[in-house]
Amino acid sequence: MASTETRRHVRVLRPSELAEAADILRGGGLLAFPTETVYGLGGDATDGVAVARIFAAKGRPSFNPLIVHVGDVAAARRIAVLDPLAEDLAARFWPGPLTLVAPLRAGHGLSGLVTGGLDTVAIRVPAAPLARALLAAVGRPVAAPSANTSGRISATRATHVVDDLGAAVDGVLDGGPCPVGLESTILAATPPRLLREGGLAAEEIEEVTGPLARDVTPGRVQAPGQLASHYAPQRLVRLGVTAAQPDAVLIGFGPVDGTLNLSGGGDLTEAAANLFDYLHAADRLAAVQAVPFIDVAPIPEIGLGRAINDRLRRAAAPRQA
Ligand code: TXA
Ligand code: MG
Repeated sequence: MASTETRRHVRVLRPSELAEAADILRGGGLLAFPTETVYGLGGDATDGVAVARIFAAKGRPSFNPLIVHVGDVAAARRIAVLDPLAEDLAARFWPGPLTLVAPLRAGHGLSGLVTGGLDTVAIRVPAAPLARALLAAVGRPVAAPSANTSGRISATRATHVVDDLGAAVDGVLDGGPCPVGLESTILAATPPRLLREGGLAAEEIEEVTGPLARDVTPGRVQAPGQLASHYAPQRLVRLGVTAAQPDAVLIGFGPVDGTLNLSGGGDLTEAAANLFDYLHAADRLAAVQAVPFIDVAPIPEIGLGRAINDRLRRAAAPRQA
């Protein structure tokens, strides 16, 4: 957690300061900004030094490629080749919490560091109005992983970013809490293959693609969101807990009530929006109460529940050295 000293050096910008936020990115700086999924740690995707600073700020191994954010599908076509199926998916789900992995287009102009030297690029058009206004003002593709230290919980509020990354960023654009609360769903476009469960339920994509091949095995892929241990709070996490225990803060769901409840009515969309925020909050509560565990109630494995359980399993997995 950042000290007060560190916090003082982070510039938190209001939505009315959008032009200054865009200037940070255009000047090669790092700006954390809100999308509908989670806060992103943004840098100019055409500027290799800015992209390198993203990796340094996150403490992320640099071979992992980043998601490139653009303002509309026309900007996406300038950097990637979208085949007819990708075009259909873009028309249906952009702007929104879907990332498409597609072949790079010649003359794309992106720093090689963004794609980790691959011949494909992960692109998305975020839906959050503030993110769209920012991308329009910047006029360049913006590389942005989730705005958290590598391996830690993603940020769904500006304060999460300030506490975690502190002075490692040049500014944090505060757009309030993220409405979706889970990272985007990642789909390889050709042939369609699900690489990461996320804020868009796979069932919705399958209405367009038919049954999807899945490639989301923890630990198999080098991508950080696919590591077995990821999204980890400081406290150890236990899953599928149905009653409060004296050694833990319980995050409830539906009828299993805890100190916090992801959704009292058992709504998975509401639970997704609360997930990372409540993991942050439970971590703080557990520290105050001096208990070693965060317990989480069972979540059904359907729709957004699959993405929620994916993040929870990684939060609960044995930690890497
Ligand atoms: O919701 C989100 O997706 C957030 C917001 C900020 O947009 N971003 C995010 O980025 O979650 P990040 O860097 O935490 O996750 C990027 C994922 C990684 O798992 C990475 O390996 C994968 O995208 N990725 C990027 N380029 C890829 C490529 N060419 N092929 C396959 N996977 C790729
Ligand atoms: Mg992440």
